[in-house]
Amino acid sequence: MRGIASNVASVSASGIRRFFDIVADMKDVISLGVCEPDFVTPWRLREACVFSLERGRTNYTSNWGLLSLRKLISGHLKSLYGVDYQPEDQILVTVGVSEALDLALRAVVDPGDEVIVFEPCYVSYAPCVTFAGGTPVRIPTFAEDGFLPRLDDVRAALTPRTKAILLSYPNNPTGATAGREFLKELVEIARDADCYVISDEIYDRLTYVGTHTCVSSLEGAAERTILLNGFSKAYAMTGWRIGYAAAPPDVAEAMMKIHQYVALCAPITAQEAAVEALNAGEQSVREMKTEYNRRRRLIVKRFNEAGLKCGDPGGAFYAFPSVKETGLTSEEFAERLLYEKKVVVVPGGAFGECGEGYVRAAYATSLDRIEEAMARVAELVASLPGTAGDT
Ligand SMILES: Cc1ncc(COP(=O)(O)O)c(C=O)c1O
Repeated sequence: MRGIASNVASVSASGIRRFFDIVADMKDVISLGVCEPDFVTPWRLREACVFSLERGRTNYTSNWGLLSLRKLISGHLKSLYGVDYQPEDQILVTVGVSEALDLALRAVVDPGDEVIVFEPCYVSYAPCVTFAGGTPVRIPTFAEDGFLPRLDDVRAALTPRTKAILLSYPNNPTGATAGREFLKELVEIARDADCYVISDEIYDRLTYVGTHTCVSSLEGAAERTILLNGFSKAYAMTGWRIGYAAAPPDVAEAMMKIHQYVALCAPITAQEAAVEALNAGEQSVREMKTEYNRRRRLIVKRFNEAGLKCGDPGGAFYAFPSVKETGLTSEEFAERLLYEKKVVVVPGGAFGECGEGYVRAAYATSLDRIEEAMARVAELVASLPGTAGDT
């Protein structure tokens, strides 16, 4: 009997895609919609790949990934966060954080298990839980709490079937960051419930306010934490498809088993670039971060000046202003901004129901383009009845 599997059919396509399809046919559009750096991968990293290809490095690697890369990742995590992961059996090199997330979920979720996700969140979390046979349990977060979940809501959502809590700070789409004390309490909740914590820390290096806390570094966390990270954001390497997971040995082994059968290994050329990134990419990370921070300050200021309330995103490269003041839904606002002013933002509802009333604006584009885009945003807002511009 033919038919798409019900756990695949039940998931709808990403709400982001529709906007990108429209934009593809339009000219002079400024996109604040993308979720990738506008920077090209630093030359030194690209050059390392050219050399690696010249040397004929075109083979499969170990399923775990190059040992040299895993050793570097281990040293990198130790020096940044003081955490200990053995390169031999605790670090798995993956095809981006995307694959690492899928492997983590499939490694620990049994049919019917529940995974807690905090919304708004990265579009793939709930679908990947469903694909793994689990049930996403969505906890809304709110601007007035800095888009951090209320811990009582987390406690109330726990059931005997809770297998993991999935979180990501700095956050896509809100830019929210989580402090040490908050994360400590969350880990305690996970410990009491004896569930895993899957922590996607892909934006860790893009933290502008305070310092990033790696969840595994917290007391009692490492034994239950599956740490996901990668090279896409900090090193501007989205197209290379390279990331990693660091986990307790039994979980890492289970993830490797799936990876071995479905992907074999991450591409060797990308692994070579990642080696160079960890050996020599630090200066570039700092420079890009400085530039993002400039843009962050500008975009937040401009949204607020335009009458759209926008909190201070502590990390990643997204602003998440409210459009409630306009009387439009976020979808209506994004459509009008696109058709009337040729600026792309993503409606907040794409990241979970509680994202309604907000839009995500990525500041992964130049300061000039941001200035121009925000002038157009201000024009649109001023033209709408019921907003500051109307008075
Ligand atoms: C929170 C988050 N996790 C994971 C990913 C995917 O990362 P990768 O390119 O490493 O697959 C993204 C991409 O936007 C993201 O925002």
